[in-house]
Amino acid sequence: MFDSGPSKNSRPARRFRPARKHRRRGGRLVVILALVFMFGVGYSLLGLVQEGIAAPMGASTPAAEWSGFSHSYTIGSPAKEDEASTGQKTKEQTRKPPGAATTCDDVNVLVDRSHSLPSDYVPTDLVSLQDYRVPTLGSEVLRREAAEHLGRLVEGVTKVGEELVVASAYRSYEEQQLSHDRLMSVFGVGADSMSATPGHSQHQLGTAVDFTNGAAGYQVWAPFAQTSAYWWLEHHAWEYGFVLAYPRGKEEQTGYQWEPWHYRYVGVEDAKRLDKSNSSLQGFLERARTMPHC
Ligand code: DAL
Ligand code: ZN
Repeated sequence: MFDSGPSKNSRPARRFRPARKHRRRGGRLVVILALVFMFGVGYSLLGLVQEGIAAPMGASTPAAEWSGFSHSYTIGSPAKEDEASTGQKTKEQTRKPPGAATTCDDVNVLVDRSHSLPSDYVPTDLVSLQDYRVPTLGSEVLRREAAEHLGRLVEGVTKVGEELVVASAYRSYEEQQLSHDRLMSVFGVGADSMSATPGHSQHQLGTAVDFTNGAAGYQVWAPFAQTSAYWWLEHHAWEYGFVLAYPRGKEEQTGYQWEPWHYRYVGVEDAKRLDKSNSSLQGFLERARTMPHC
């Protein structure tokens, strides 16, 4: 009684059959259209999800942060050309946040009071300074490129009759913890301006050294700045790629007191640029913005 369709009894079967056939065809068409629609929408949604993975990484990164990565990070014009020519984003662009994976090994990586290395970061190319004829107080290691240049630096200073000895080079996260704790136990909170907390030390990079010599009593302290070897360093360290990291007058910028003994290797080109520009290493690294993401 509520059936609005044709009654079997009121119409001949002969005329009814074509109508049913027509309805079945219509039904199939609806099902096919529904499947096509679902497939299309599903595919579009998948695309949105993929965009969604890529988008936050790009959006959260200030444009300035990208500019400093040219020599250490693979996102650059070649990847953009790839995208333009293939119409697809490369894995590199969609998965890696800026500064990821390789930048802790970059000689220009920014490690300071606000930027730290992971506790498990250990450079993979540490070599013994003994192998590069660098005098040391203990058994010290440094990254290969820095060690090679330090070997030449020592050769240079020795030629002019001066002495330089490395008191400390690479320090692991754990060694920095011990060193920091030791200074804290002597100087209290004052140690904070002399020693980096673990993860924040350039020594963990394997590119920083603390110098001393006989004239400074083989101690790591301010009297080292009164020695003629220090004078030589001030004028020639850049020729070997080394830069004074914590200069006098820049304490507020670096967050550490003047350390005439602490030099960091950044490569000859940048060390020369720094020497000629009068810019501090801290300012230079801040501008380069190579972040310790690894
Ligand atoms: N003395 C410097 C700041 C260090 O501990 O790395
Ligand atoms: Zn140091």
